[in-house]
Amino acid sequence: MAEENISEAINASFERAVQKSNELEADLQLNPEKHRVLTGDRPTGNLHIGHYFGSLQNRVRLQNLGVETFIVIADYQVLTDRDVFKDISKFVLELTIDYLACGLDPHKFKTHIFPHSHIPELNQLLVPFLSLVSNSELSKNPTIKEEIQASGQNVINAGMYTYPVHQAADILFCKSDVVPVGKDQLPHIELTRNIAKRFNKKFKARVFREPTGLLSETPMILGLDGGQKMSKSRNNTIMIKATEDETMKAVKSAKTDSERLITYDPDNRPEVANLLRIAALASGGTPQNLAAEIGDQGAGKLKQIVTESINEHFREIRQRRAHLENNLDFVKSILREGIAESRNVAQKTLEEVRAAMNMDI
Ligand code: TRP
Repeated sequence: MAEENISEAINASFERAVQKSNELEADLQLNPEKHRVLTGDRPTGNLHIGHYFGSLQNRVRLQNLGVETFIVIADYQVLTDRDVFKDISKFVLELTIDYLACGLDPHKFKTHIFPHSHIPELNQLLVPFLSLVSNSELSKNPTIKEEIQASGQNVINAGMYTYPVHQAADILFCKSDVVPVGKDQLPHIELTRNIAKRFNKKFKARVFREPTGLLSETPMILGLDGGQKMSKSRNNTIMIKATEDETMKAVKSAKTDSERLITYDPDNRPEVANLLRIAALASGGTPQNLAAEIGDQGAGKLKQIVTESINEHFREIRQRRAHLENNLDFVKSILREGIAESRNVAQKTLEEVRAAMNMDI
């Protein structure tokens, strides 16, 4: 294929993914009880406001619609691209605290939070799944290629190539059909669909349904340094758990430009536009209206408004966080319950999988 045709093909497949995501969104509103959500994160640190506006808020919304929701903490995935794991258990707790503080509530809703290392039957699905994919398919995965580059490691372990298959086990063990993710995860969803399809075909069974990626409607929040992405390793974030003072300092350090009149112009003034978007998300307004309000009061006023709106929006969440930090036994009990509930589901699925493969005794 000529290069132009390749990028056309990529765009077309992205457009299809967007269309599917929109159809799914419409049905989630109408028939929440027909669906199951699975999504999750790696326990590599606390979550920042980019995670919150880009995905956490959406998870809480789906939960509140009445959709059964599984949140996987992908602790095994941490072993694929880094050498330091002394903090994993701390980060599993910290992630759980962020989730609960932001409104995920396993006691009030059908929500289950669990680290996948505690679900043996989920992990066992990896074995048959590995025989349903080819080496070349794994090494061509564009997200993996990028992660290999970013990891800076000279020896790439096999887990790096195979974790998308493990991710398919995360998604399929509970037969979820809705996977809220960012664009970068779409290749993994496509692989998961293929694994589900191939399993059913090869073993002449109907064990799995093919999941769909639910794409977030919130545009990506950029880093405060004007960088591409808010990310802890780039030190350009505002953490959900930041104090009001830390928030102010982070916002103060944000890059802007020297024009005094504040306008919402994402193409020509990406840093100012990003701050306006953050303030709009936090305060419920629109970036255009905020820009008009600030007018010629300059970047100082803009930053003051950003700081205040974030601190206002996260005040209660931060209070809940602090309370949970002091009740780690409760946080652990949430995980233990999530593990028990997820294991039940995984055991049933593994039984069906064994039966389909003629491995029953
Ligand atoms: N791969 C995801 C990430 O790097 C984390 C993850 C693991 C995940 N299993 C998942 C996301 C299942 C969605 C569904 O962020």
